[in-house]
Parts: sequence; structure tokens; C-alpha cells
Amino acid sequence: MEINKRPETMARITTPQLAEAFIAEQVAEIQKQVGDKKVLLALSGGVDSSVVAALLIKAIGKQLVCVHVNHGLMRKNESENVIEVFGKELDANLVYVDATDRFLNLLKDVSDPETKRIIIGNEFIEVFADEARKLEGVSFLAQGTIYPDILESIKQAEGKEAVKSHHNVGGLPEDLQFELVEPLKFLYKDEVRVVGETLGLPHAMVYRQPFPGPGLGVRCLGAITRDRLHALREADAILREEFDNSGLAGKVWQYFIAIPDIKSVGVKNESRYEGWPAIIRAVNTTDAMTATIEEIPYAVLHKVTARITAEVEGINRVLYDLTPKPTGTIEWE
Ligand code: XMP
Repeated sequence: MEINKRPETMARITTPQLAEAFIAEQVAEIQKQVGDKKVLLALSGGVDSSVVAALLIKAIGKQLVCVHVNHGLMRKNESENVIEVFGKELDANLVYVDATDRFLNLLKDVSDPETKRIIIGNEFIEVFADEARKLEGVSFLAQGTIYPDILESIKQAEGKEAVKSHHNVGGLPEDLQFELVEPLKFLYKDEVRVVGETLGLPHAMVYRQPFPGPGLGVRCLGAITRDRLHALREADAILREEFDNSGLAGKVWQYFIAIPDIKSVGVKNESRYEGWPAIIRAVNTTDAMTATIEEIPYAVLHKVTARITAEVEGINRVLYDLTPKPTGTIEWE
């Protein structure tokens, strides 16, 4: 496998002016590569795919077809945001696929984390390939590959193993052969963000905390059920809202709720109330290889606990995970 390295002469993109120059250069390059052909993009709503989408919309407009697959494991309002920003504001050629049932049916009774990841990754490719086959005249596939992904591939090529498999849109079926368009492949994350903001994407989208490909699927621990997944989505939305309100959102690298498949006895409205615990995870890291615990003020913890136990059906306790990585990983699965 031939792996390209970032040119040593390439200046770090730290300002809107440098981003403008990068954008102009990439727009010309994309137009030259693509001509009048169509380009397909799996638009997850994550930072990288969103910035690629905005860049390609600028370069080739409606020749870009964005496919957003909602696997039913998105956080609250995420698919709606993708539709709002790309479908409405940027007037993109956007195909929205609600594949919730396909994914959740396949995941029924599956409790092993790596099996869940494989199912989600493979089904994602299936759904995306099904959509790609429906489209005519698409010659290119755009990907939000960034430089750390390339560095990771170099590590893997050197035989260094990862603890968990991290999936992106990987190998498509053989009947779908596309040429790749990867305009961000030499950029680091901070540069991608500067480019995204310069392209006019909303700050919240560009500074979105990392969200794993399998989404809430690896936070609804063990075998996923629709009711626990719903509780997780609601509890996670409350945590994020309170982090926004208290100014923690910009300070903490990744924060979320995980819900294990256990119930404890509790009491609500003077009656016995068996429910799941919601576990708060809030970590800081630079490279996700190790992580430290963010100290959340008690007032925020109390507020989050009060709101989740009052507002979310099925939850009767809130726990705060104090484990750094190692020994914990950031995700629970
Ligand atoms: P761990 O749990 O390995 O997580 O400490 C490190 C970082 O990777 C993210 N993560 C994933 N990202 N697909 C992804 O795209 C995955 O399967 C996956 N598993 C973990 C995790 O959210 C954290 O940022």
C-alpha cells in the first residue's frame, strides 16, 4: 500500500487567511479532478465529513451527492441538524436515509462490543452501497480522511495493533468502484476546524466533540433495546445541555452518558422504581490514547442528576465514572 506523507513545506493552517488560501487551492484541484462528474459522500455530521461536504459544495455544488445514513444510534437532534445545515442552509443535494429499523433489528440480542461494531460497520456500508447503486453516473467517492487517519494506517502497516476496531466507511462492495476525493488528507484536526469555520459552518458543528462511528450503540451497553437507547439519548442530551450552560462544553474533550444493562431498586413517587443507572463520563486527552478525568463541579453534577432522574423514563440513579485511561478506555465498550 502506498501511503502519502504531508509535504514538509506545507504551512500549518492557523488563521482564516491561511484557510482561505487552502480552500481556493482545493476548490481548483477538486474542479480539475472531478470535471462535470458526480461525487458521492457519506455525510455523518461529524467534523471531517461536514467540512469535506462544505468544501465540495463550494467547488462543485449539486454535483456532490451527500448521503446521510441515520443508523438510529445518533445523538438527539443530530440527523435533524444535518438536514437543517446541509439540506436547507447550504442547499446541498442530500439523500437522507432512516435505517433505524435495519440496524436495530440486526443488533437485537447482540451483546459483544466488537460484534456490535462489526455489525454496525458492515451494515453502514450495505445501506450506503444500496443508496449508491440507486444513483446514476457517480464516478467519485469523497472521504473525510484526515492526516491522523493516514498516520494510523502507517502504524497499522508497521504491525502495531489497536485496542478496539474503529470504523469509518471502509471497503465498499466490488461492483462499486470509485475514484477517491480526499481534500483534507494532509490536515490535522485543528486545521480542519479553521477551514470549516472559514467555509461558514456553524461553530457547534466544527467544534463538535468526537463521536464514535457506532454512535450510541457502544454506549447502550450490552444488547441494545429501544427503551434503554431512548433513555440514553435523552440523558445524554441533558448532560450536553448542562455542559453548555455551565461553560464546561468548551473545556472538556469528550463527555457523554453510558447506560449499562442492569437495574437497581429505587423509589419514585413513593413507590418502588426499578431503573437503569446513567453513567457520566467526562474526559480530557490530547490524542485519545490516554485520558484524565475532568473535575465537574458538584453543582453541575447535582443538576444533571436531578434532571436526568426527573425527566428520563427508566433511570433512577446517576453515577460519575472517575477512572482515567488507563485503566478504563474512554468508551465503556
Ligand atoms: P477508547 O474507548 O478506545 O476511545 O478509549 C478512544 C476514542 O475513540 C473513540 N472510539 C471510536 N471511534 N469508532 C470510532 O469512530 C469506534 O468504534 C470507536 N470506539 C471508540 C472514542 O469515542 C474516543 O474518542
